[in-house]
Amino acid sequence: MAEAREAQGASGGEAKGVKILGWAASARADSFNKKLVRIALRGAEAAGADVTYVDLRDYPLPLYDADSEAAEGLPENVETLRDLFRDNKGFLAASPEYNGLLSPLMKNTLDWLSRSTEAKPDLSAFQGKVCALMAASPGPLGGLRGLRSVRELMTNLGFMVLPDQMTIRSAFDAFDSEGELLDAGQTERVEALGAQLALATARLTRST
Ligand SMILES: Cc1cc2nc3c(=O)[nH]c(=O)nc-3n(C[C@H](O)[C@H](O)[C@H](O)COP(=O)(O)O)c2cc1C
Repeated sequence: MAEAREAQGASGGEAKGVKILGWAASARADSFNKKLVRIALRGAEAAGADVTYVDLRDYPLPLYDADSEAAEGLPENVETLRDLFRDNKGFLAASPEYNGLLSPLMKNTLDWLSRSTEAKPDLSAFQGKVCALMAASPGPLGGLRGLRSVRELMTNLGFMVLPDQMTIRSAFDAFDSEGELLDAGQTERVEALGAQLALATARLTRST
């Protein structure tokens, strides 16, 4: 929290009102990555941002299929999620690591959101937006390997991805029953990343 406050002070309220969306690329109700995003959003909010959390479980999407897109168009949840993405300038995203790479939910969601009603690419929901990445995993590397592919995908889509990121290893032992991190230092660092994202978003998207 100290670092989050520092970022707020240094910015002189620069991040006030900047719109930040947080999501985790896990549908699991008790997802570690969802917990992590909520903590980071708190840091962004402390820095003055206007924050929103979206649970992708509330917006299920089929596996992308070009034939169903051609026949039926975009699922309604694509339009809803895309509106939400368009309405925000900064993103706090956490992805589980599956076999060393990003989660299929991350890839499928962003693939759908990259499509337009004319069944062609539309990256307008992503381009020029700012993102900070996180991961939590029961493993010893905390999902660090998977973030390489998340970073690559999001950069391809036009996001400016912050160099700093946060991973939480041994996740079964890292969170309490309320979804808070047991380690105060980790909590501070996750909140500080949220604050950093808010400030970077305010600075990098000032004229958009
Ligand atoms: C198919 C599959 C592959 C996985 N591969 C990895 C892996 O490579 N590294 C890792 O740290 N955890 C791996 N895990 C474990 C996930 O990190 C773990 O299920 C985690 O809780 C998922 O994130 P969530 O809690 O946000 O749902 C894997 C899990 C599944 C189901």
